Amino acid sequence: MTLRRRWLATAAAAVVLGLGGAQLAGCSAADAPAVPGSEAGASPAGAQTGVPTATPSTGVTLSATPSIDPSPSDALRPSTRPVDERTGKELGRPFTVNGIVVVSAEHPVSAGYRPTIGDFELTPTAAKAFRAMQRAIEKAGLRLYVVSGYRSYAEQKALYTHRLATMGRAYTRKYVAVPGASEHQTGLAVDLRSPSGRGTSFVRTREWRWLRAHAQNYGFVLRYPEGKTKLTGIGFEPWHWRYVGVQQAKAIRALGADVTIEQYLRLA
Ligand code: DAL
Ligand code: ZN
Repeated sequence: MTLRRRWLATAAAAVVLGLGGAQLAGCSAADAPAVPGSEAGASPAGAQTGVPTATPSTGVTLSATPSIDPSPSDALRPSTRPVDERTGKELGRPFTVNGIVVVSAEHPVSAGYRPTIGDFELTPTAAKAFRAMQRAIEKAGLRLYVVSGYRSYAEQKALYTHRLATMGRAYTRKYVAVPGASEHQTGLAVDLRSPSGRGTSFVRTREWRWLRAHAQNYGFVLRYPEGKTKLTGIGFEPWHWRYVGVQQAKAIRALGADVTIEQYLRLA
């Protein structure tokens, strides 16, 4: 059984076993509890360029006129609301603003979009950053496990359909992106768990607290913070972490622990 098939099978098994919605929440619980690195199959990290070859389509650029006292976040943020002008074949690449890939229901990618995937089922660049973060957290005596990384459009569709059938419409809309709107299709998002907590219970773990304090130093941000559903379209997902690069992650974090990509990029 392939890893991809395994997460669906595990999801089905979890439902049969009667795991509650809180534990199942979202995409992460749909996955086999893969040990980090076990997905790493074939592609040696660093062998490829990694980040999806998306190009900015908004025309948003850095301001040529520095403000009097620019903060790091001001320097990286667009100064006006970016516009997603992709049409037709351009949807084969993600909407990208100042280097940050944005994939959501408002900014989907087409079914055929597939980045290069390496270790941890992440792009090689994101995988390298994740490996560094994992080593750091292990030095602190903690453990992180990857539950889910890259998912193709077809896999997201299968997951969405499965959740609809087993968990219902409200739950599915809250925690599962419609096909084409999942960050997992970019290879830049990873669902995590610790030895002592997964899904919604991940927030009660020391690993969660460590991530909240340090993840930005490795280029990761919490993508779906609590209370931000109106902005992100998704419920609170403590397990879902998104790679945006160290500079951008620190800039986002500098604005607040629960600042969303939509807020940072002035999309909402
Ligand atoms: N659980 C996230 C939103 C996804 O399905 O991509
Ligand atoms: Zn996720």
